[in-house]
Amino acid sequence: MISAQGIHKSFGHVSVLRGVSLELARGEVVAIIGPSGSGKSTFLRCLNHLETIDRGNITIEGEVLASSEGEAKAQYVGDAEIRKIGRKMGMVFQSFNLFPHLTVLENIIEAPVIVKGLKREAIIPKAEALLAKVGLAAKRDAYPNHLSGGQKQRVAIARALAMEPDILLFDEPTSALDPELTGEVLRTMRELAEEHMTMLVVTHEMGFAREVANRVVFMDGGHIVEQGPAESFFAAPQQERTKAFLQNML
Ligand SMILES: Nc1ncnc2c1ncn2[C@@H]1O[C@H](COP(=O)(O)OP(=O)(O)OP(=O)(O)O)[C@@H](O)[C@H]1O
Ligand SMILES: [Mg+2]
Repeated sequence: MISAQGIHKSFGHVSVLRGVSLELARGEVVAIIGPSGSGKSTFLRCLNHLETIDRGNITIEGEVLASSEGEAKAQYVGDAEIRKIGRKMGMVFQSFNLFPHLTVLENIIEAPVIVKGLKREAIIPKAEALLAKVGLAAKRDAYPNHLSGGQKQRVAIARALAMEPDILLFDEPTSALDPELTGEVLRTMRELAEEHMTMLVVTHEMGFAREVANRVVFMDGGHIVEQGPAESFFAAPQQERTKAFLQNML
């Protein structure tokens, strides 16, 4: 579903991604963990074209987004193709990013109406079904400010799903939440995993990574230091840096 090869990205003189390569298969759930500043968010944002890469190759579901030869700067495909590829992916952010002036239901139907040109009436039943799926049918007409953080994040997940993405990217979806609200969001994500949604999740929830992810990727200093099946990754990390990180986390 996702093939990223040799991704390099700098901000000014700061090299943030130094040759990151990752493959993600259909239905796979991959957790990315690593210390602050290691480039996790930047990597997700590059996949989703919220940032442009300097070098490397990104292919999403067989369609090339960006590619580069040798040391040359990466070349992007045209805008129409970029938008088409972008619609294959949904993203959920730490800070929810809901529209405060729109109700929960309006937040969910906004993109399908504006981006896909669907009729409001046509999309409302589906939006309601998505709200029920994330356990928030009763909040249909509430405004985001009247929701808890966990509820906001579940609305954000429903909103991403409303665009029918093939891949969901999550950037620390629970790190702005109180611990007691984290569980309800993780439960929704676990259900998506059980339905074989393809997901790439930056998280510091080691329990979630261990139980839900098929594979865990550890990033540090703009590199993937180590990756492996969740079980063996946690039971027997190979690299010293991974061991030190996990010791601090657990
Ligand atoms: N738009 C930007 N301009 C300049 N520097 C940036 C920008 N975005 C990120 N960086 C820098 O890139 C580095 C990696 O940032 P990134 O947000 O990818 O890390 P992270 O692994 O997601 O960290 P965290 O766990 O704190 O979210 C950091 O040093 C950060 O300051
Ligand atoms: Mg981050």
